[in-house]
Amino acid sequence: MLHAKISGIGYYVPEKVVTNNDLEKVMDTTDEWIQERTGIQERRYGKKHLETTTTMGARAATIAIERAGISKEEVDFIIFATLSPDYYFPGCGVLVQRELGITQSEAGALDIRNQCSGFVYGLSIADQFIRSGMYKNVLLIGAEMHSMGLDFSTRGRNVTVIFGDGAGAVLLQPTEDPDKGILTTKLHSDGTFAEKLAFENPGAHGGYHLDKRGEAHDLQYSDATYGEMFINEHMIQSGQIFPVMDGQFVFKMAVQKFPEVIMEALASANLTTSDIDMLIPHQANLRISQFVQRKLGLRDDQVWNNIQRYGNTTAASIPIALCEAIEAGAVKPGDLVCLAAFGSGFTWGSALLRW
Ligand code: ACO
Repeated sequence: MLHAKISGIGYYVPEKVVTNNDLEKVMDTTDEWIQERTGIQERRYGKKHLETTTTMGARAATIAIERAGISKEEVDFIIFATLSPDYYFPGCGVLVQRELGITQSEAGALDIRNQCSGFVYGLSIADQFIRSGMYKNVLLIGAEMHSMGLDFSTRGRNVTVIFGDGAGAVLLQPTEDPDKGILTTKLHSDGTFAEKLAFENPGAHGGYHLDKRGEAHDLQYSDATYGEMFINEHMIQSGQIFPVMDGQFVFKMAVQKFPEVIMEALASANLTTSDIDMLIPHQANLRISQFVQRKLGLRDDQVWNNIQRYGNTTAASIPIALCEAIEAGAVKPGDLVCLAAFGSGFTWGSALLRW
């Protein structure tokens, strides 16, 4: 049966390394706190004015396309997953098409807003398009320029220390080989706790969810005009234009959903945890990955972690880690690779593929 395989993969991380000690200089944090809670030692930040989510995505995409052995013009569909787009709209899909110089191809471009699960969602969408015979060369990119949208004061330290910039991309093509490519994908979401990990402003909510929760109306909304409800001075001054996260709540949900969705994928493919050659978990937090590894009874050589060097690069973390693992020879032809993600929404998902 027709399904998708990854024919080319690439990643790009910016040159600028930001260590925990560098962050100590701008906020009240310590290398020890960050390493102990998250495992992160350093992350990369894009070059100011010169790099964006789109440009990093284009660099990763160029490598993936070259490795697939096709020309850029042959890409017939683009999927771009990010939570840190260059513009509120239009999305990075069309921007990367322009950056790659392939606007003449008029290939479709789709933007995915599923945060940490964006790449797994994108993989599933690409697989469905390929299974239906609609497209033959689907470019899937996950990229983030978090550094532009973080609070570098002590107020934002619980979130800011976790995230880093980077991009990963894959070029997907059809195959009928049952021993190659995507075997299955599983996608889930539950919006009950949407605001537990969110970037709310600017936004068109106008205080709606605050009212629904029965909390006092903030002056920022009651006195504001329609336009000011989207973004106003009060939001800026009070730091409400930065991401918020209930870390402990996210942690508890993540360690429950990661194993669940991995087991679901394995069961549907009649496989077990002992069949996994390499698990590439979204690099949310080293402690989460270690918990999942223990729960599934996997050895260290069956799990790839690189959050120590890149931090959490959200939609980019899985393709960066997968590409690194392949380049290191840790994923070989025929290996069963399991990808899994959990993030804001909450959304989560998994994919099983035969390399
Ligand atoms: N440096 C020093 N102290 C800090 C920092 C920091 N960077 N951040 C928070 N603290 C302080 C807090 O202010 C608090 O101080 P207090 O006790 O005096 O009030 C104390 O540390 C404990 O804060 P908590 O938020 O309770 O810390 P916790 O032990 O939960 O660790 C963390 C926070 C690392 C975010 C943890 O909750 C976690 O890993 N959660 C999972 C969330 C996650 O991984 N998110 C990634 C993005 S989502 C995703 O990709 C799935």
